[in-house]
Amino acid sequence: MHARAVAATTTALLGTAFFLLPPSDARADEDGGRPTVVAHRGASAYAPENTLAAVDKAAELGTTWVENDVQRTRDGELVVLHDDSLRRTTDVEQVFPGRAPWKVKDFTAAEIARLDAGGWFGAAYAGARVPTLQQYVRRVERHDQKLLLEIKNPELYPGIERQTLKLLSNEGWLDRRHLADRLVVQSFSADCVRTVHHLKPGVTTGFLGTPPVSDLAVYAAFADQVNPSYGSLSRGYVSAVHAFTGPHGRPLEVFTWTVDDAETARLVAGYGVDGVITNKPDVVRGALPAV
Ligand code: G3P
Ligand code: CA
Repeated sequence: MHARAVAATTTALLGTAFFLLPPSDARADEDGGRPTVVAHRGASAYAPENTLAAVDKAAELGTTWVENDVQRTRDGELVVLHDDSLRRTTDVEQVFPGRAPWKVKDFTAAEIARLDAGGWFGAAYAGARVPTLQQYVRRVERHDQKLLLEIKNPELYPGIERQTLKLLSNEGWLDRRHLADRLVVQSFSADCVRTVHHLKPGVTTGFLGTPPVSDLAVYAAFADQVNPSYGSLSRGYVSAVHAFTGPHGRPLEVFTWTVDDAETARLVAGYGVDGVITNKPDVVRGALPAV
């Protein structure tokens, strides 16, 4: 356990959040002291983003953490896809030519299940499907991986926070073991992150963005992580975030995105980030020696 974790434990013992505190700073320990490496949309430089193949590829590369994006179909199924439209990452234009602009929310789960979500990436992946969130978490679990789940465009999907938590609960992802160190729920929407925290306070949460330091106290009430793009980051900002204590009595963490080259990985590691979100987990891990 490193110094910040010891300080957090002390704070928690003195404070009110002890019952919510995970047993240890396991993420830092398992990564040999280096920042946690997270495969962005799976290992998406090597397999089509947000597919089960991208999860498999991350596992093959020895990457424990994967990130994904969750949205909802017209008939209420949670699916894993980045854009609010199916156009870029599936063959929806060919299969449903009259349905522009091909929004996820306008298609049923059965319609989306017919689409090819891998052919655009490469012939080897033709036939890959848009996974449901249920299929996705089962695959992550099968690999004994961990999940940084992003709720995407929550303003389009009223109630998606509660629905996502229900699915995670049904799949066993809100038990003590998963809550301790296997799941983070993040969003660009502060309201969404706040809602997740209030509905299930034991869940580790992250806010995507770079709020002004003067606002960090507000975020620290409901978010355990502040996760900025690497271009908006500095050593001073990381230190400022770390100085705040989050809702579980631990210092706020910083996971930055999307870093795909060794030089930038070393730069942000030097800033003291806790996690690096990357399409190329092998490159980032190779750039960051254990300390
Ligand atoms: O996890 C960080 C990153 O996924 C946020 O950006 O657009 O790739 O979802 P985006
Ligand atoms: Ca994302």
